[in-house]
Amino acid sequence: MPEYSQEFLRAQQLRSELLRHNHRYYVLDDPEVPDAEYDRLMRELQALEERFPELIIADSPTQRVGGSPLDAFAEVAHLRPMLSLDNVFDAEEFAAFDRRVRERLKTTAEVEYSCEPKYDGIAISLIYRKGVLERAATRGDGNAGEDITLNVRTIKSVPLRLIGEGHPELLEVRGEIYMPKAGFEQLNRRAQEQGTKGFVNPRNAAAGSLRQLDPKLTASRPLMLCAYGVGEVQGGELPGRHTDTLRQLAAWGFSITRDLQEALGVNECLSFYQRLQAKRADLPYDIDGVVFKVNSLELQVALGFVAKAPRWAVAFKFPAQEEMTTLRAVEFQVGRTGSITPVARLEPVFVGGVTVSNATLHNSDEIERLGVKVGDTVIIRRAGDVIPQVVSVVLSKRPTSAQEICFPATCPVCGSPVARVEGEAAVRCTGGLICPAQRKEAIKHYASRQAMDIEGLGDKLVDALVEKGLITSMEDLYELTAEQLAGLERMGKKSAQNLLDALERSKSTTLPKFLFALGIRDVGQATAATLAKHFGSLENLLAADELRLQEVQDVGPIVAKRVATFFADPRNLDVIQGLREHGVHWADIAVMPRETLPLAGKTYVLTGNLESMTREDAKARLEAFGAKVAGSVSKKTDCVVAGPGAGSKLSKAESLGVPVIDEAAFLKLLEQLA
Ligand code: IVH
Repeated sequence: MPEYSQEFLRAQQLRSELLRHNHRYYVLDDPEVPDAEYDRLMRELQALEERFPELIIADSPTQRVGGSPLDAFAEVAHLRPMLSLDNVFDAEEFAAFDRRVRERLKTTAEVEYSCEPKYDGIAISLIYRKGVLERAATRGDGNAGEDITLNVRTIKSVPLRLIGEGHPELLEVRGEIYMPKAGFEQLNRRAQEQGTKGFVNPRNAAAGSLRQLDPKLTASRPLMLCAYGVGEVQGGELPGRHTDTLRQLAAWGFSITRDLQEALGVNECLSFYQRLQAKRADLPYDIDGVVFKVNSLELQVALGFVAKAPRWAVAFKFPAQEEMTTLRAVEFQVGRTGSITPVARLEPVFVGGVTVSNATLHNSDEIERLGVKVGDTVIIRRAGDVIPQVVSVVLSKRPTSAQEICFPATCPVCGSPVARVEGEAAVRCTGGLICPAQRKEAIKHYASRQAMDIEGLGDKLVDALVEKGLITSMEDLYELTAEQLAGLERMGKKSAQNLLDALERSKSTTLPKFLFALGIRDVGQATAATLAKHFGSLENLLAADELRLQEVQDVGPIVAKRVATFFADPRNLDVIQGLREHGVHWADIAVMPRETLPLAGKTYVLTGNLESMTREDAKARLEAFGAKVAGSVSKKTDCVVAGPGAGSKLSKAESLGVPVIDEAAFLKLLEQLA
C-alpha cells in the first residue's frame, strides 16, 4: 500500500492518537477522552487493519492487550497470559456470539453461561502458594505486568492466607481491584479541600492508588477486590463449572460478586443484562457492562482462544455514561431563591441512553475548576437519572476561537445586581420577588403537586400569568377571574373554570404542605413535615428562635438560620397573612410525644430508586412518623419499601417473609399518616 494513500495516513494518525491516549490512561492515570472515544478510535484502526493487513505493524496499539509496565515496579512474567475480552454492544451482536459458540461446539442445544457484572477497575493476578499470598501483579501487556504485591497486601478484601481447606499447591486468582463510588467521592472531596487535582472517575482513582510507590498511600485508599476467575492451578482440582469455581473461591475467603447467576441461552442472558442495567446506578461501585462466560470448563477448553481473548467469554457493554461533545454556549438561569446557575448548551450527544443537549455547570467555582470555554470539546457524564454533568475539557481540541465564560454582574432577568454570599459558591440575584424569574419560580413551586397541588397550573401558565402582569405573587392567584383566564392562549372556558376550582380546593391544605409551599431555602418536603410535626402550628413555629429550631430532628444551624430569616422578613409575613385572608387554611397538629407517633417502634428499609423523592427525604419522612430506618433487612424489619432497581435487600425480604411495598403504596401510606 502506498505511503500516501488515505488508509495508510489514517492508520498512522489513529496509531499516534491511541498511543497518546494510552500513555495518559495507563501511565499518567489521567485520561483526556472518554472510554467511548478511545474504543471508537481502536475499532476504526482494527477495522482498517482487518481490511488491509499490510497496515499492521508490530507496535500497533491493536497488537497488545494493555499498557506497558511502569519502570518503578519490577516486571514479572505471568504464568498464563492475562487476556482481554471481546465486546458486544447490542442483543444482536450477543446472539451472534452465542451462535458462534454453538457452531464451534456443534450443538443446537442452549448453552449455560455464567453472568457477572463487569467491574470497572484494574485487572489483577494473585498467586497463592500453599494458601499464602505470594505475588500480586497487574496485567501490564498481558504477558508481563508489574509486581505490586506490597500495595495489594494493604487491601483488606485480599486474603493474605486462604481460609477453609483443599487449596491447590499453587492457585492463581484473577479479579478486579476497584474503588467504590462513595470512597471515590470522599477522596475527591478531600483533594478539592487540599487544592490538589482529583481523579476523573473511580477506575482512575483505583489505578492511581495501586501504582503508589509508597504502600502506605495505597493503604489509605478505599480499594476492594472482586475475584472473577482463576489462572494457573497446580496440585489441586477446581470444580467443573465456572460459577462453582467462584463459589469455591468465596469459601476460601475471596469476595466475589453478589450478582452471580447461571443463565441458559440468549434470552436468559438478556434478562440478566436488563436487570443489572436497571440496578446499575444503585450499585455502590461502577460497572460498565456484563460478562457472559460459557460455564462448563470442558466447553471452555474446547472453544479455546483467539489472539487476545477467549472464544468462550464476551463483555456486553452498557451504553457509555461519558461522551464527548462541544459546548455551544453558556446561559444563566435564575432559580426560585435567586441563585444564578450557568447551564451548558451542548451539541446534542447520546450518552447514558438518552440524547443530552444541556448540562449543569453548577457555579463559577466549577467553571474555574474545569477551565472551560465556549467552543471547547467537553466530556459529559450522565449516570442513572442524575442531571448531566460536564466532567472535563479536552484541551488538545480547543479551537483558537474559544471564548472565556463571563459571569454576569447583573441578573440576566431583572437587571438587579448579583451578589456572592461569603462561604457560598452560588451567586444570587438580589432582586428578591421584584425579579420576575424568582417570582415565577416561587409561584411554580407553590402550585406544585407536593406543595399546594393546584391542578392545571403548570409552568407555562405561570410564565404567561406573570408575563401578562396578571399575578405578581402567590396571593394574586386567588384573585384571578374566569374572564382573565379565558383570555389566555390555549385556555378555554372549561379549563379556566377547572383552574378556579383547583385554586379553591387548594385553600384547604395541611401545615406541612403549606410550609413546603412557602419555598424557604433548604426546607424540602421532609424538613417541612418535621417542622410541622414538631411545632404543631404556624404560630408556635413563628415564635421559635434559631436555638429552638435546632432542637428539631435533622435541623442543623444552617436550616435553622434559613427558617428564622424567612419568618423575620415582614414581606414574607405579609404574603402569609394575605394567603390566610384569601382563605388558605389548615388544621393544627396535636404535638405528640415520640412513642405515640404512628410508626413508633417500626423498622423500615428503603431499597431501589424512588421517583417522587430522594431516599434521604423518604427516610426523613418515615422518621418524622416515629419509624426507624435501617440499612439492611433482618427478621426484625417490619416493612421494605422497594423502588425499581431493588436488588439483594428485596430478595432477602422476600425470603424472610418481610412485607414489601412499592412506591405507590408508600406514598399512600405517607398520605394516610399525614
Ligand atoms: S473475565 C479471559 N470477568 O474486564 C477473561 N473480566 O475487558 C478474563 N473485568 O481484563 C476476564 N469484570 O479486568 C472477567 N466479571 C469479570 C470482569 C472482568 C471486569 C475486566 C477484566 C478484564 C477486562 C476485559
